[in-house]
Amino acid sequence: MAKTYITTAIPYVNGAPHIGHAMDYCLADTFARYARLRGDEVRFQAGVDEHGNKIFQKASSLRIPVQEYVNKNAQSFKDFISDLNVSNTDFIRTTDVEHVRRCQEIWTRLRNHIYKAKYEGWYCSGCERFVTQKEHDENHGICPDHAKAYEKLSEENYYLRISDFKEQIKKAIETNEMRILPEFRKNEVLALLDESPDVSVSRSTVQLTWGVSVPDDDTQVMYVWIDALSNYITVLGYPDQDISAWWPAAAQFVGKDILRFHAIIWPAMLLGLGLPLPKVILSHGFVLANGQKMSKTIGNVVDPMDVLQRHGIDAFRYYFLRHVDTFLDSDFTWDKFEESYNNELANDLGNLVQRLAAIMAKNNLEYSAEQEYCFSGEYIKLMDDFEFARAFDLVWEKVRAINRQIDEKKPWELAKAGKNSELAECLKGLVARLLTVNYELSPFLPNVTGKISEIFTGNVRPPETPLFPKEQKK
Ligand code: MSP
Repeated sequence: MAKTYITTAIPYVNGAPHIGHAMDYCLADTFARYARLRGDEVRFQAGVDEHGNKIFQKASSLRIPVQEYVNKNAQSFKDFISDLNVSNTDFIRTTDVEHVRRCQEIWTRLRNHIYKAKYEGWYCSGCERFVTQKEHDENHGICPDHAKAYEKLSEENYYLRISDFKEQIKKAIETNEMRILPEFRKNEVLALLDESPDVSVSRSTVQLTWGVSVPDDDTQVMYVWIDALSNYITVLGYPDQDISAWWPAAAQFVGKDILRFHAIIWPAMLLGLGLPLPKVILSHGFVLANGQKMSKTIGNVVDPMDVLQRHGIDAFRYYFLRHVDTFLDSDFTWDKFEESYNNELANDLGNLVQRLAAIMAKNNLEYSAEQEYCFSGEYIKLMDDFEFARAFDLVWEKVRAINRQIDEKKPWELAKAGKNSELAECLKGLVARLLTVNYELSPFLPNVTGKISEIFTGNVRPPETPLFPKEQKK
């Protein structure tokens, strides 16, 4: 059995989950479910990023002990993941003692590539990122993502010698040994890599205490990204355990804003540790609200719990996997969400199931699948290329085609005319098609597809309540 390891970015716990966070989970979960159906054994990590100034400051401003604060928020992310029916096998918190100890071990192993020097420059605590003078000037001293002035830092830090690995990383990206998706981000990343100075990998404890202590130097804690990126391997037990069965990851899912950390610092760390590079880093676009970035200041943040409560989990996953592009920025609006629920889920799929099940039941027909389901070649190609939204479109076209087929074949007329064996054959053919499509839909919509398989197993009975009721869920 092939082994497949899939990872997601670990969100900062300085607030509740928002709909943008759902992208990593929905995409990675779809891929994980697809890989399992293709016969792979899957390990699937998720977790939370709990260190850094941003979190420390937020907890302090609320006058809550920081550990207590992260405990509470970590739980809300865990609940969110479970509400989305994400099939992760692991959940890591960066305050886990094992993670902390393993990070320190990783640091020690990277020591040959680490040196101490004075850092004089800019920092954005929103991004938790060191900013070059050029970038500072281009943005007139203000982070465009956080609308906050960059802070001036002047402190002794440890640096990771990115220059030791630049050529190797460049080659890995160019040859697709480490594939950057989408393709159009590749050149962007190569340009950043070219310009990348050595990276500061620690902060003075005068500035930051909420982090992993640097081994043998209690004046420094690790830069939050070193601790955070390590999670992908500490969760597998590195360096205490041999991780070669799982590592390198088949795919790492991240947002476009953090691709640079995953395509520069992370590969440098891995090469420094003598580990192979991930096979794919997929960076998805951003979910926008009415064309704008969601922000607490603008007041347009969409609460994922509101979306989930409106029409349930299938509607949530449907929207974010089909109507949010896999790679480009896309809008979330309540109107589009309602439209996709009513016109597509309820009308195309819900009615199809209802119609077919009702006529099967009326004629006392049973159904038992005679063959195993399999994916079409075209579907496999799109899924293997991580083109999830396009694969979803392809499957949806098949749902619509079955509806058209019912209209053409008019099984109710066969029933009226008493042509029972023709009727049974026609309906069974349609159900077989539906169940094949259902199988292709299952990585995207695990909940409703499970119900549909049950409805059409054995003695067919239409669902007692519609799969997608038109009125709002309570
Ligand atoms: N803690 C870091 C990740 C460390 S991974 C070793 C971080 N956290 S985050 O909370 O800011 O973001 C978590 C994930 O959510 C990232 O993949 C990020 O790109 C994604 N998104 C955050 N807002 C988003 C949208 N509005 N839309 C889509 N994804 C977005 O970065």
